Amino acid sequence: MPSLKSLLLLATVCIPYAVSVDTDDHRWIAPGATDERSPCPGLNTLANHGYLPRNGKDISIPMILDAAKEGYNFAPDTAILAAAKFGLLSNSTATTTLNLDALKLHGLIESDASISRGDFALGDNLHFNETIFSTLANANPGVDYYNTTSAGQVQQERLAISLATNPNVTNTPKEITLRSNASAQYLMLMGNPITGVAPKKFVQIFFREERLPIAEGWKRSNVTINGTTMGVLSVAIQAASNWTVTQDCEPLVLGPMD
Ligand code: HEM
Ligand SMILES: *[C@@H]1O[C@H](CO)[C@@H](O)[C@H](O)[C@H]1NC(C)=O
Ligand SMILES: *[C@@H]1O[C@H](CO)[C@@H](O)[C@H](O)[C@H]1NC(C)=O
Ligand SMILES: *[C@@H]1O[C@H](CO)[C@@H](O)[C@H](O)[C@H]1NC(C)=O
Ligand SMILES: *[C@@H]1O[C@H](CO)[C@@H](O)[C@H](O)[C@H]1NC(C)=O
Ligand SMILES: *[C@@H]1O[C@H](CO)[C@@H](O)[C@H](O)[C@H]1NC(C)=O
Ligand SMILES: *[C@@H]1O[C@H](CO)[C@@H](O)[C@H](O)[C@H]1NC(C)=O
Ligand SMILES: *[C@@H]1O[C@H](CO)[C@@H](O)[C@H](O)[C@H]1NC(C)=O
Ligand SMILES: *[C@@H]1O[C@H](CO)[C@@H](O)[C@H](O)[C@H]1NC(C)=O
Repeated sequence: MPSLKSLLLLATVCIPYAVSVDTDDHRWIAPGATDERSPCPGLNTLANHGYLPRNGKDISIPMILDAAKEGYNFAPDTAILAAAKFGLLSNSTATTTLNLDALKLHGLIESDASISRGDFALGDNLHFNETIFSTLANANPGVDYYNTTSAGQVQQERLAISLATNPNVTNTPKEITLRSNASAQYLMLMGNPITGVAPKKFVQIFFREERLPIAEGWKRSNVTINGTTMGVLSVAIQAASNWTVTQDCEPLVLGPMD
């Protein structure tokens, strides 16, 4: 029979190991070769931390809402519910779930002049691209944070690049709202959700690694982030982006039908 001392030794050696390695469902793990990811760093990060299925497949709307609340403290009205419902149109065969890869469907949610992905007509609209991201990485020089002003300037610069290089660029009122909402989301998630001031270090880790920078000091917001807050930031970002319409709205794009 083991001595009390050896049991205590086992307890001190084994229990912390078990807690940090075996039972921590939400540690970051890079996606494997067969795991699907999307053009959205927000959804990919949730999958990389196991708040969404790590394989990126068969994801329902309630699963997205729960993951956004649990991982980010985002309420459903932060455009998550709308985006998730809309995302179901990316695959009309699967009516109640979506796979992350299908969200790359151009013109549904995926659009041109993204801040971390290339334009569809120019090649890869799915994976993170450091060249595209350099506009955001180098924004707001001289300080260690991004804010609504710099987020708007990034959108203005990225759109100018797309207008200059992509002969098939789509730039309608739908895209500016999507872009400004997405920018509001990275500021709220990585920084102060009310002021929209976010440490550069956290934002860069989020985009480049699709990882929550917990080891670097990031904490999940202790107040639930809602759509009202997001709307205020989104409007400020759009104003700072000096956006002007170059096209009217495009018809809705749907995924493959049966
Ligand atoms: C959970 C909170 C979410 C956060 C923090 C978030 C954040 C972001 C950010 C920052 C971008 C901009 C990426 C870029 O321009 O390069 C983005 C794009 C995108 N998001 Fe999300 N998102 C969230 C939820 C969702 C949901 C629920 C859906 C749909 C099911 C979605 C679908 C997309 C898609 C398709 C894009 C690509 C748009 C593009 O072409 O730039 N996102 N998201
Ligand atoms: C669409 O959904 C069907 C049924 O779940 C699935 O077999 C197929 O792989 C999906 N296609 C895409 C592009 O996600
Ligand atoms: C070109 O733009 C149209 C919308 O204006 C879109 O339907 C189509 O998918 C785009 N094609 C490419 C290759 O970008
Ligand atoms: C990243 O984007 C740049 C600029 O559009 C492009 O030249 C480059 O080929 C892209 N890289 C990859 C790996 O797609
Ligand atoms: C964002 O930061 C820059 C650099 O500090 C500053 O000039 C600008 O006024 C800030 N914007 C807001 C809305 O505070
Ligand atoms: C929430 O976090 C903020 C910023 O870290 C802190 O000032 C505040 O006291 C916290 N509120 C609660 C209820 O924990
Ligand atoms: C949204 O969040 C803000 C800031 O935390 C809070 O003052 C407001 O009451 C919230 N609104 C709703 C409808 O929950
Ligand atoms: C952008 O966010 C606002 C405020 O939450 C919301 O009313 C609007 O529907 C969103 N637009 C898109 C295209 O997601
Ligand atoms: C805003 O856009 C207009 C036309 O689109 C341009 O003439 C003006 O120089 C821009 N202003 C800034 C500050 O970028």
